[in-house]
Amino acid sequence: MTSALQSFMSYLRVPLLASSGVAAVLSGLLYFKQNEIIYPRNFPPDARTNVPRPSQFGIADYEELMIPTPDGESLSAFYLRANKQYARNVTILMFHGNAGNIGYRIPIAKILEDDIGCNVLMLQYRGYGLSSGTPNEKGLMIDAQTGIDYIRQRLELRGTRIVLYGQSIGGAVAIASAARNLKQGDIAGIILENTFTSIRKLIPTAFPPAKYLAPLCHQLWPNEETLPRITGIPILFLSGLKDEIIPSSHMVQLYRICRSEPKIWKEFPNGSHNDTVAEPGYFAYIDDFISQYVAR
Ligand SMILES: *[C@@H]1O[C@H](CO)[C@@H](O)[C@H](O)[C@H]1NC(C)=O
Ligand SMILES: *[C@@H]1O[C@H](CO)[C@@H](O)[C@H](O)[C@H]1NC(C)=O
Ligand SMILES: *[C@@H]1O[C@H](CO)[C@@H](O)[C@H](O)[C@H]1NC(C)=O
Repeated sequence: MTSALQSFMSYLRVPLLASSGVAAVLSGLLYFKQNEIIYPRNFPPDARTNVPRPSQFGIADYEELMIPTPDGESLSAFYLRANKQYARNVTILMFHGNAGNIGYRIPIAKILEDDIGCNVLMLQYRGYGLSSGTPNEKGLMIDAQTGIDYIRQRLELRGTRIVLYGQSIGGAVAIASAARNLKQGDIAGIILENTFTSIRKLIPTAFPPAKYLAPLCHQLWPNEETLPRITGIPILFLSGLKDEIIPSSHMVQLYRICRSEPKIWKEFPNGSHNDTVAEPGYFAYIDDFISQYVAR
């Protein structure tokens, strides 16, 4: 099931959250440069122009979209229709990690669409790949809402069960947007992989030289405060225990404070930050989660 994924792992060998090599720069420039550090959208250097497409992975039933945001940006996205043989009436909205672009994650989407039978919307945040604009917390939240509203408004997706799936910083986007959309009752599941409790709490371990500068951080992503406000949505926690960028203690803490039920914990003893997705069992856990708690 994961052979396409494994063959493409070289593309994933990029930091999904900025690596500690920038620590020296960070300590001096944290306040002014933190957006470049938290959202390394130009890494690798061709990430803004070279966006692999689903057709390169043998996917035929998809659309390339440009979705307008209410504040005038244009988000590029891929919409993959579920394999009809297994179609499940579920739409997964993917929130990507902080480097590269959506094209790098197509092997993941392909498994979700083809083997697990879900529609997949791969949304590219502002400032990434072919999307316009520059990234920041407020903007990414507008982007996430734009993706959710797109699913709600598109006729063939209307009424499907929405799952928010976030890797690394994408988990923060998933948590914050689920909390904002609780009333509508159509978010049917959340999948979090290798996410942090807050950017401030991440700084002392991810960027030790900058630990006294954490108060200067203006990109907050306060998952630890937001997650407990979510109730009534099944949540799957996928944690790589060898995560060298976001210590797995962050995921343990998120699981502990989560009040939503059911909450399911799955850990990967050999999973590091970038490659937990390729660990054995990863997609089987997602498949079980969707079958048991999301699909009807
Ligand atoms: C993750 O990305 C970093 C930065 O590119 C790289 O040094 C590291 O080897 C990668 N880790 C894995 C397990 O691929
Ligand atoms: C999908 O869910 C919607 C909303 O409940 C429902 O109207 C529709 O019939 C379902 N479709 C399938 C194929 O189950
Ligand atoms: C972790 O890696 C070791 C060494 O390659 C291997 O023996 C072990 O089976 C792996 N464990 C899991 C849970 O994948």
